[in-house]
Amino acid sequence: MKILVIGGGNMGLTYAQSFLRSHITRKEDMMILEKSPEKAVELAKKEIGTIYGDPAACLSNADLIILAVKPQDAPTLFQALQPLIEPQQVFLSIMAGVKIKTIQQSLGVTKVIRAMPNLPAQIGMGMTAFTSTDEVTRIELVMVQNLLNTTGKTIYVESEEAIDASTAISGSGPAYVFYFMDSMMKAARDLGFNESEAELLVSQTFKGAVDLFQKSDFSCEEWIKKVASKGGTTEAALNAWKGNHLSTGIIEGANAAMNRAVELGRES
Ligand SMILES: NC(=O)c1ccc[n+]([C@@H]2O[C@H](COP(=O)([O-])OP(=O)(O)OC[C@H]3O[C@@H](n4cnc5c(N)ncnc54)[C@H](OP(=O)(O)O)[C@@H]3O)[C@@H](O)[C@H]2O)c1
Repeated sequence: MKILVIGGGNMGLTYAQSFLRSHITRKEDMMILEKSPEKAVELAKKEIGTIYGDPAACLSNADLIILAVKPQDAPTLFQALQPLIEPQQVFLSIMAGVKIKTIQQSLGVTKVIRAMPNLPAQIGMGMTAFTSTDEVTRIELVMVQNLLNTTGKTIYVESEEAIDASTAISGSGPAYVFYFMDSMMKAARDLGFNESEAELLVSQTFKGAVDLFQKSDFSCEEWIKKVASKGGTTEAALNAWKGNHLSTGIIEGANAAMNRAVELGRES
C-alpha cells in the first residue's frame, strides 16, 4: 500500500517514522507532501520516503492519504487536492475538529477515517481513537488500524461524537497530567527538594503508579485504599483535595474541553 502523508510537521513526521520503524511500510511506499521548502529539505535528510512539494506529482500514486496539516490549513489544501483525487482512495484525517462530512464534501470522496491521536505517539505510547465512514472496507480499516497501532494503542469508536469525547480525555489528557505533575513538582520544591530531585520524585511516581494500575485488576479507588491508611499522611492530602472539590474540577475541565471540541467542529 502506497502512503502519502500530507504535512511533514510534528504528527506527519511521527507517523512516517513510526510506520517505517515497525517495518509495516517500506521506504519506497512512503511519500510526504510538505509545502514548506525548508522543511522539505530537512525531511529529505531523514530518509523517510520521497518528499514532494506539489500534490500533482504524488497524489495519484497513493492508496492511503493521511491529512496531517493544521485544521486552519485544511480549506486551502482541499482546494488543491480536489481535482486530483481518485474515488477509490482512502483518507485518514488526524486534524482536530475537522468533520468527516466536511472532508467528504470538500474533496468529493467517500472513504474517510478520522482519528484523534495524542502527543505520546511520538514515542510509540500514544492513544488514538478512530472512526470511519461505511464506505471504508473492513480490509482497509484493519490496514489503517495496524498503521495506527505502531504509534501506541487504538480504540475504534462508532461515532464522531466519541472522537470529540476522546479529544477531551486522551487528546488533551497529556496536558492534564503535566498540569498535575507540575503542581506536585512545585510542592516538592517548596518542601526543600531541588529541581532535578523534584522532577525525578514526581515523574517516577507517576510512571510507577500507572504501570502498577495497568498490570493489575484493581481500580484506582482500590489502589488508593492500599496507599491511604486511616489517619495517615495520604488521607490528609486526599481530605484537603476533597475540601477543594478537586475531582469535580477535573471533571468540569474535561467537559469544557468536550464543549470546545464540539464548537470547533461546528466552525470547520
Ligand atoms: N501535535 C499533536 O499532539 C496533535 C495531536 C492530535 C492531533 N493533531 C493534529 O495533527 C495535525 C498536525 O499537527 P502538527 O502538530 O503536526 O502540525 P505542524 O507541526 O504545524 O505540521 C503541519 C505541517 O503541514 C504543512 N502544511 C500546511 N499546509 C500544507 C499543504 N497545503 N500541503 C502540504 N503541507 C502543508 C505545514 O507547513 P508550514 O509550517 O509551512 O505551514 C507543517 O509543516 C493538526 O491538524 C492537529 O490538529 C496534532
